[in-house]
Amino acid sequence: MSNDGVNAGRRRFLVAATSVVGAAGAVGAAVPFVGSWLPSAKAKAAGAPVKVNISKVEVGQQIIAEWRGQPVFIVRRTEEILANLGKLSGSMADPESKASVQPTYVDPVSRSIKPEILVLVGICTHLGCSPSFRPEVAPADLGAEWVGGYFCPCHGSRYDLAGRVYKAQPAPLNLPVPPYSYESDDVIVVGVDQEKA
Ligand code: FES
Repeated sequence: MSNDGVNAGRRRFLVAATSVVGAAGAVGAAVPFVGSWLPSAKAKAAGAPVKVNISKVEVGQQIIAEWRGQPVFIVRRTEEILANLGKLSGSMADPESKASVQPTYVDPVSRSIKPEILVLVGICTHLGCSPSFRPEVAPADLGAEWVGGYFCPCHGSRYDLAGRVYKAQPAPLNLPVPPYSYESDDVIVVGVDQEKA
């Protein structure tokens, strides 16, 4: 009868599962770690949303999360940084991100839902290096005009602290803003749009 087939199949599955657990137990603690890491890597590759707690990010500081295998920069911007954005717009290649990737629900200039919290995909739009966070004003290597931003170490593209690329850089577009939303004041969900949260 067909039930026998189901039961036989089920037995085979149980035997197989048991032997995997037995093997993991035999080689020690490293296997359970790998076992728990793999599904997470798969989930990331498939584009699963990532929750990031930003409560410990201090003013002026950046943390880096990971979403779909890409770095996501999250910065708590200072008043000075926000005040500079409008002044810098004339120096930017795409100041209101008309050609660049960003969700419709972020402000065109601050490129964020809440002005103080910046969320960017940290991949240079030239050839895909990850730009460095350089919030200092006028450091020796970047010059007296530098008011803080991102500097790509590969071919020197410069971005401001909204991820907007300066004019005449190798990179053609601003750093992308990923889809994201706030689950609470302290928790951002990267990969879930604000409207659908
Ligand atoms: S990859 Fe960033 S400037 Fe070329």
